[in-house]
Amino acid sequence: MKTFLLSVSALLLLAGFLPASVVFAADGALLYEKLTCHTCHGPQGKGMIRTEDKAKYSLKKKKMYRKMKKEGVPADITKQLRPLYKKKFKDEGKFIKAIEENIGEIQTDKYKEIIIKIAGRVYYRKGDLILGFEDYPRHAGNKKIYLFRQMKDILEGKRTNGNSEAMRGIKSFIDNNKITDDDFRSIAEYLSDVKE
Ligand code: HEC
Repeated sequence: MKTFLLSVSALLLLAGFLPASVVFAADGALLYEKLTCHTCHGPQGKGMIRTEDKAKYSLKKKKMYRKMKKEGVPADITKQLRPLYKKKFKDEGKFIKAIEENIGEIQTDKYKEIIIKIAGRVYYRKGDLILGFEDYPRHAGNKKIYLFRQMKDILEGKRTNGNSEAMRGIKSFIDNNKITDDDFRSIAEYLSDVKE
């Protein structure tokens, strides 16, 4: 039956009855973005991971200077660090450079660990999973046929677990955009070709 249908559409195409777009699905990578798949499965289906570090360094309180002293930074050094009071740095390298400008390279090397420990607040690091998406599946490099089947099963309600409902949230969006099986196949093909 399947081959029969295939040959019918192939004949129709040859005869010029079918517009090419019905048979040749749109670009999988483009669809993956357009249909918001990346907002839950990450760029290129690699999962929802942080792509960069996020931290902030700031000596924003007098208390921090007292703490430095307590941890062994001499008083004259903490005094020299006063120009940094309340300044914010998003980059550890720039923060260290600013410390260097105030206390010199040698003292910086000696005390930077203590200073960073007190001034730094690391929110997340590159490669960390984004909170709330820890158990969402990754697709990159998975089998094309498997990916296709699972997308269909989830959207059609055949696969159901505690997570499936989240994905079905986009069902009406998919329907409104008249996404075809060929479109799903090309998304699956694109994802399965992504190298880690
Ligand atoms: C709102 C978040 C969300 C969006 C948007 C979303 N998904 Fe999902 N997807 C999920 C969750 C959660 C699961 C796990 C569901 C389950 O286990 O049944 C899932 C499961 C899947 C699976 C099965 C993976 C496996 O390893 O079994 C595939 C394939 C998939 N999604 C593809 C897509 C594609 C393609 C799109 C875009 C058209 C998309 N998803 C959009 C949340 C989402």
